[in-house]
Amino acid sequence: MIVVQRVEAADHLRGTVRVPGDKSISHRALLLSALASGTSVISGISNGHDVAATRVIVGQLGARLHDDDNDVVVEGADEGLRVSPDDLDCENSGTTMRLVCGLLAGVPGEHHLVGDASLSRRPMDRVAIPLEAMGVRLEGQGEQRTAPLRLWGSARLRAIDYSVPQPSAQVKSAILLAGLAADGPCVVREAIRTRSATEDMLRASGVAITSESVGAGRVIELAPGRPLAHHWRVPGDPSQAAFFAVLAAIHDDATLDVLSLDASPERVGFVSVLQRMGARVDLVEHGGATGLRGETSMLHATEIHAHEIPSVDEVPILCVAAAAATGVSVFREMSELRVKESDRLEGSARLVNALGARAWIEGDDLFVEGLGSARQFRDFSFDAALDHRMVMSAAIAGCAGEGVTITGAATVASSYPTFFRDLALLS
Ligand code: S3P
Repeated sequence: MIVVQRVEAADHLRGTVRVPGDKSISHRALLLSALASGTSVISGISNGHDVAATRVIVGQLGARLHDDDNDVVVEGADEGLRVSPDDLDCENSGTTMRLVCGLLAGVPGEHHLVGDASLSRRPMDRVAIPLEAMGVRLEGQGEQRTAPLRLWGSARLRAIDYSVPQPSAQVKSAILLAGLAADGPCVVREAIRTRSATEDMLRASGVAITSESVGAGRVIELAPGRPLAHHWRVPGDPSQAAFFAVLAAIHDDATLDVLSLDASPERVGFVSVLQRMGARVDLVEHGGATGLRGETSMLHATEIHAHEIPSVDEVPILCVAAAAATGVSVFREMSELRVKESDRLEGSARLVNALGARAWIEGDDLFVEGLGSARQFRDFSFDAALDHRMVMSAAIAGCAGEGVTITGAATVASSYPTFFRDLALLS
């Protein structure tokens, strides 16, 4: 069913938002808990459908899970994970598909992975290539090995030393998860530091792993082993907080707070970008946890490089900020935007043009000529193309501007099922 959602312009915005638990950490907590022997607890897990898909899959593979109040309790598969007779449905979630490929690499037998229409267009060759070097067979469709996938895992994988060609935490993580079942230490090299949740969480669960910064990148070395059960406490998702940071900055009467976030350096690059644009947005300490505060601001254009926001998840909402700024902003080297839940390079340009500012693409660079104020946005319609971040970016533009009608809004539940309710509570 296609859901059409209307968001009206808000006169003023005040309040505090608790965003869902971090999506990246939630997926990894489920995967590592399933691999571990014993009982793990996950507090504050994301309530999004992406993470729910990972939860169903680890259950199919032999972990036992139940809810205990707000916690998820996971009994790892003592005797090791097993092949599921049914397809493993990753739905809309690239993180699920790529990380589960890494997990299954060490589980002997034939596994079948499927996804929705958006995920079935996304390249899986980026995980197939390193996993095949480790001894896995992975079949997908066409050159990019898109889903549906068939993967044959093996109990004894070859250790590799691999330089990840794309800045991708998902690829890095797939190799590290596979490396747990390798015949020696694996080395993963990244040219740009991407989010470190996998390394940090493997270390916390007792796996021998080192990580060294080299220039703008990292070299990670992992010894094979089995993670120990752990109590995971999942902080709020900074990529969701970014929507409220931009909303506060571009709205003409707003003060907003977001509670307790993962503030690791690779995740909060958007805060520095907004500050450079003149935004009164900052990370703040609230009772021992890092939160975010944003207020009405006057924004001006800036130049943004992909390495400032590794994974480029916050680029669509930063394009909305650039559309409300004075001057021409440029987002450089944005090729990774094309292979997200939708082509976000095209989608971000389409969004900016729909709301009445001007955007254009030159190669992998995206230019946005702002209108100087979100009050200059027009009331517009937008098709979110099965992409949760495009839904939320359009909604923020409508709320700070003159309203928006979004087609395909149900996909917001991939990461943030209560987004529209939380937004409405602020006005
Ligand atoms: C994620 C990595 C990023 C990001 C995604 C979550 C992760 O993808 O876009 O939302 O949890 O590892 P890439 O690794 O493709 O950059």
